[in-house]
Amino acid sequence: MASVKQIFQYGLARIKTKKVENEYLNWLKFANAGMMNEGNYHLFELAIKDIEGDEPIIEIGSFCGLSSNVMTYFLNKYSKKNKIITSDKWIFEDSDSKYLGDSHLEHDVYRKFVKESFIRNIKVFSPNNLPYAIEEFSDDFFKLWEKGDTHTDILDREIQLGGPISFAFIDGNHSYEFTKRDFENCDKYLVNGGFILFDDSASYYNFGCSEFMKEMRKNKNYRIVDRNPNYLFQKIQ
Ligand SMILES: C[S@@+](CC[C@H](N)C(=O)[O-])C[C@H]1O[C@@H](n2cnc3c(N)ncnc32)[C@H](O)[C@@H]1O
Repeated sequence: MASVKQIFQYGLARIKTKKVENEYLNWLKFANAGMMNEGNYHLFELAIKDIEGDEPIIEIGSFCGLSSNVMTYFLNKYSKKNKIITSDKWIFEDSDSKYLGDSHLEHDVYRKFVKESFIRNIKVFSPNNLPYAIEEFSDDFFKLWEKGDTHTDILDREIQLGGPISFAFIDGNHSYEFTKRDFENCDKYLVNGGFILFDDSASYYNFGCSEFMKEMRKNKNYRIVDRNPNYLFQKIQ
């Protein structure tokens, strides 16, 4: 249950959230299902326009591909060549039961639909910089990353994993433990000057990822670039 303070912060954040007014992004959002706070668009733009090298971007949690497609839009806008490599197994919370809620739709059917939507969406909206999608949970994804293996993605393309990264968008399992581990794994590979955006990290959320922001705010190796209302950090040492 949200406290009065959280409701007040939520109202205030809604008023203050910086929005990117953009015709293309509006059409994208209408057609591409997703779960992103629109404030992220501004944060993606801040990070992507200031990426210095060609190291890849990592996305943890893709769902139907909205965030991947927003990122490729800004990569294109700022003439950046960075690849996007994603980690998602499309296995959602509460998928132990056969059906979605009290419906007759089976979880497996929904899962297949979402994964196929991801593929269709990236092919339509990001054809010139098609994200590489690794069908693994983030812990296993980072094990592959550490090994530096060449891996086959869901579109049957080979991609060399491993090495430094320029930007990480963390939007997978929102619990405190997973967010912390995803951060620690990204931190190992993030270049100095690189960025990390935590989805659903605004203070008024009840997710573990917003709880983890208390630690991030004290982390001397990172500076807050902006809160809109989620946190975007830059690595400074
Ligand atoms: C909030 S959705 C992502 C939304 C997406 N970024 C968008 O633009 O709408 C969370 C996604 O994370 C995935 N996920 C959950 N736990 C994960 C994990 N440990 N590693 C990678 N992905 C995970 C889920 O399958 C789901 O597709």
